[in-house]
Amino acid sequence: RPRVLSGIQPTAGSFHLGNYLGAVRQWVALQETHDAFYMVVDLHAITVPQDPAELRANTRLAAAQLLAAGLDPERCTLFVQSHVPEHAQLGWVMNCITGFGEASRMTQFKDKSARQGNDRTTVGLFTYPMLMVADILLYQADQVPVGEDQRQHLELTRTLAERFNATYGGTFTVPDAYILKETAKIYDLQEPTAKMSKSAANAKGLVNLLDEPRATAKKIKSAVTDTGSEIRFDRAEKAGVSNLLSILSTLSGETIAELEEKYTGKGYGALKTDLAEVMVDFVTPFRERTHAYLDDPETLDAILAEGAEKARAVAAETLAQTYDKLGLVPAK
Ligand code: TYM
Repeated sequence: RPRVLSGIQPTAGSFHLGNYLGAVRQWVALQETHDAFYMVVDLHAITVPQDPAELRANTRLAAAQLLAAGLDPERCTLFVQSHVPEHAQLGWVMNCITGFGEASRMTQFKDKSARQGNDRTTVGLFTYPMLMVADILLYQADQVPVGEDQRQHLELTRTLAERFNATYGGTFTVPDAYILKETAKIYDLQEPTAKMSKSAANAKGLVNLLDEPRATAKKIKSAVTDTGSEIRFDRAEKAGVSNLLSILSTLSGETIAELEEKYTGKGYGALKTDLAEVMVDFVTPFRERTHAYLDDPETLDAILAEGAEKARAVAAETLAQTYDKLGLVPAK
C-alpha cells in the first residue's frame, strides 16, 4: 500500500470548511486505500504565541474533529506531532541543509511575517517549512493530501529529499502533493477571490464547522454572489457562484455540469437554499460526534497514545538511518 501523511494545526474553536474540503475529506477517503498517517501539528502551532490552556484544549479538539470527520483509528494512524520527538530532531537536520535565501522565499512565511512585523515574527515561523518537510520525510510518504496553499512547502520537501539523497545516498522517498483540483482552494464567502481562512477580515465569510448549524445556514444565504443571475461555473467572471457550486458539488456528489443543468432558469436564491440545507445536514452530526469524543477524553487520549506509538516506530527508523548517513556517532 502506498503511504500518505498529512497534518493540520490545532486552531482555536473549530476547523473551517476549507480545511475539511481541501484536506480532511481526502484523508478520510485515503485511509481505505493507503497506509495513512495523520497528525495534529502542535509544534507548528507554537510558531505564533499560544495560551497553554487553549493550546491543550485545541489539540484535543482537533483530534476529536478528525475522528468526527471519519478518521478511524483502525484504518489510519492518528497522533499528535509533539508525541513523536523525531519530528523536531529531523527538523533540525532539514534546517541544516536549507539555504537561508531558499527559506526566505517561502510565500507563507513572507505573508505571515509581513502581517506580524519583524519583531513579532519568530525564528520558529521562519523554520516552519523545514519542520513540515521533516514531518513528511520521516514517514517516507508517497503522497501528501493538502490544499493548494501548501504546494510550495511540498516543492521544498521534494527539493530537500532529493538534495539529501544526492549528497548522502538514497534515504528519503520523494513525495508528491495530492491536491484535488475541485477543492484545492475554497474561497471566502464574502470575498470569493480570497482563500477561506481563519484570518478573514469578515467573520461572515468563514464557515466554522462547529458553529450553530443555523448560523452556518445564514452565512451561506448571505454569501456574496455576482452580477447577473445565471448559475454557471466560471471562476473569472463568477467567483462567488463558482465557489458555492464547488462546495455543493463536493458535499452532494453531483457534478458541476449536473448542477448547472439543475439550476438553469433558477436564481441564486435557490442555489443558496439548497447548499444551506446540505451544509446543515453535514455539520449537525459532525458537531454531535465531535462533542461525544470531547466528552470522553480518556478514550481520545488513548487513541492518540496508540497512534504515537505506531508513528514512532516508523519515525525512529528513518531518523536513525538519517543520523547514520550524516556521520553522527550512534549512542551506545
Ligand atoms: P493548516 O492547518 O493551515 O490547514 C490544514 C489543511 O487545510 C487546507 N486548507 C485549505 N484547503 C482548501 N481551501 C482552503 N481555503 C484551505 N485552507 C486550508 C490546507 O492546505 C491544509 O492541507 N502546514 C500545514 C500543516 C502541516 C502539514 C504537515 C501538512 C504540518 N506538517 C505535513 C501536510 C504534511 C498547515 O498549516 O495546514
